Amino acid sequence: MIVITGATGTIGSEVVRLLAERDVKVRAVTRNPEQARVPAGVEVVRGDYADTDSMAAAFAGAEAAFLVGLLGPDYVELDRALVAAARAAGVRRLVKLSAIGTGDPELGRVGTWHLPGEQAVRESGVDWTILRPSSFASNTRSWVAPIQTGQPVPNMTGAGAQGVVDPRDVAAVAAEVLLSDDHAGRIYTLTGPAALTTHHQAAVLAAALDRAVEVTDIPLDVARGFMLESGMSEEYADGALAGQAFVRDGGNAIVTGDVEQVLGHAPRTYADWVRHHRTEFGG
Ligand SMILES: NC(=O)c1ccc[n+]([C@@H]2O[C@H](COP(=O)([O-])OP(=O)(O)OC[C@H]3O[C@@H](n4cnc5c(N)ncnc54)[C@H](OP(=O)(O)O)[C@@H]3O)[C@@H](O)[C@H]2O)c1
Repeated sequence: MIVITGATGTIGSEVVRLLAERDVKVRAVTRNPEQARVPAGVEVVRGDYADTDSMAAAFAGAEAAFLVGLLGPDYVELDRALVAAARAAGVRRLVKLSAIGTGDPELGRVGTWHLPGEQAVRESGVDWTILRPSSFASNTRSWVAPIQTGQPVPNMTGAGAQGVVDPRDVAAVAAEVLLSDDHAGRIYTLTGPAALTTHHQAAVLAAALDRAVEVTDIPLDVARGFMLESGMSEEYADGALAGQAFVRDGGNAIVTGDVEQVLGHAPRTYADWVRHHRTEFGG
């Protein structure tokens, strides 16, 4: 039996779907089981990272677990506790969803937020694999409203490119790694097939939707103001902005062959993701 945390989220929900399709016994963890929509046959349990007992019960009897931590300075201890709970329950294989650039000193503090969780799985004494995806294609869902209302989409990364990855590929790699002995001790940096700027992504959307998609640059101090207004802590906002600056300066223009290495086929393009989601943008 495989436990999937973050099972209602972007990656976890797709991992649940893929494993259920392969007739694997799956337990999906969420804080709100009554709201969870999962494929038939999937067990749903309540688990909250902040409630140790609930996570101990969630991991009980599992052979493998997919660990989706929460990004940010406030979650470092919860990430460690998640690994400890899985270990204490006797889970033999841990797959941690991390992020590209983790541990890179150039990335600044955002590059440290997944580190303690990574360290904990590496020191867990059981088989582990770490997945470090690049920027998800699905992040551009935040552009639905501006595109539908004819407004420009915001850009905080200038002409910096990223190996934008389709969440379905991240999930497919996770499912594969959860089921196989072949990936123990590996760290995979998961990217799409090309390094894309915000302008590239806007152009792909414009072509698919057959309408203009303009881009407007948001100065980082203005972005910081929005972030603080929306309730983010100064530490989180400054860490996230340092990450954006790193991308803008070309630090994340990385494309790897890791998705293909695990799945045996090339990763999906951003255009593939847009084709799959174009109706959400009014296409
Ligand atoms: N977006 C990107 O570009 C990107 C790139 C690289 C890495 N990542 C990493 O991806 C991870 C996020 O994955 P995602 O986008 O798939 O997640 P998501 O869509 O943001 O969903 C978050 C999930 O976490 C669960 N969750 C939240 N708080 C919880 C708590 N206290 N206890 C238990 N579960 C909790 C939620 O479940 P319920 O609400 O149902 O409880 C939900 O399933 C982060 O670690 C991030 O660093 C993201």
